[in-house]
Amino acid sequence: MVGIKTNFLLICLLVNNMAQQWYRMRTTYPDFLAICTEQKVASFLSCAALGRETNDATFFFEADKNHCRWNCTFIFRTGVSDGNIEWRKYEIESTKNSAPKKTITSSSVYGNAYHDWSPKYATDSIFQSGGIKIFHSANETSPWIMVDLKDVTTVIYLRIYVRMDGLGERFHDVAVEVANSSSYIQRGFYKGPAMTQEVVEILCDDPTNARYVRLRIIHGSRNVLNIAELEIYTK
Ligand SMILES: *[C@@H]1O[C@H](CO)[C@@H](O)[C@H](O)[C@H]1NC(C)=O
Ligand SMILES: *[C@@H]1O[C@H](CO)[C@@H](O)[C@H](O)[C@H]1NC(C)=O
Ligand SMILES: *[C@@H]1O[C@H](CO)[C@@H](O)[C@H](O)[C@H]1NC(C)=O
Repeated sequence: MVGIKTNFLLICLLVNNMAQQWYRMRTTYPDFLAICTEQKVASFLSCAALGRETNDATFFFEADKNHCRWNCTFIFRTGVSDGNIEWRKYEIESTKNSAPKKTITSSSVYGNAYHDWSPKYATDSIFQSGGIKIFHSANETSPWIMVDLKDVTTVIYLRIYVRMDGLGERFHDVAVEVANSSSYIQRGFYKGPAMTQEVVEILCDDPTNARYVRLRIIHGSRNVLNIAELEIYTK
């Protein structure tokens, strides 16, 4: 189904459980480097369906040549402009990043040094290139970071800026778990391991409605969770 709503082109896909998911064209271009799987497709809709298959929150389409870029890995770089205007970026519809100014807690802070590694640095909207003023847990089995969105909210996807000065591989086997009180259920997963400077997008199962959103490493026994920035895109 294709629909026109206000001035966005919205693409609606019926997913497995028949819930509807909308993609819309972005008018601003990403400042991330994107390494994607690229292929010629029959139409825009085939491209969107490929994106759906790999659980993409974002994919690209070049209308002139019917080329699709999906299954992308994003790398944070400042000053990347999209020179190729013909590549349009589509992202799943959400209204805003709801993480800033919310209460954020974590399982631990490395060396209890809140001044350098508090979870609050994950939602301060500052994209640190170094290893301090980012969130840094202690070395434990299942470190986590949790945002209290205050109200039950529809969560669409999360965007995580992995540590940028090295050690990106620490970000692996991360589950998105949500709750309204204390019983968490898993609604998204990233296998990884990530690369240093990677920008990881995790699409949540549809629908995900909850007040608390937690990221937790669920495999291995000695893990450290480092997050430069965490964004939670909601309806
Ligand atoms: C997605 O990309 C990864 C490499 O980043 C590749 O190993 C995998 O086969 C790709 N998946 C598809 C469905 O193209
Ligand atoms: C939270 O409550 C809403 C209803 O208010 C419900 O739809 C949702 O499934 C609940 N979420 C969880 C994780 O239990
Ligand atoms: C965590 O601690 C274990 C045991 O002390 C150590 O072997 C491992 O390298 C540490 N992991 C990290 C990521 O620091």
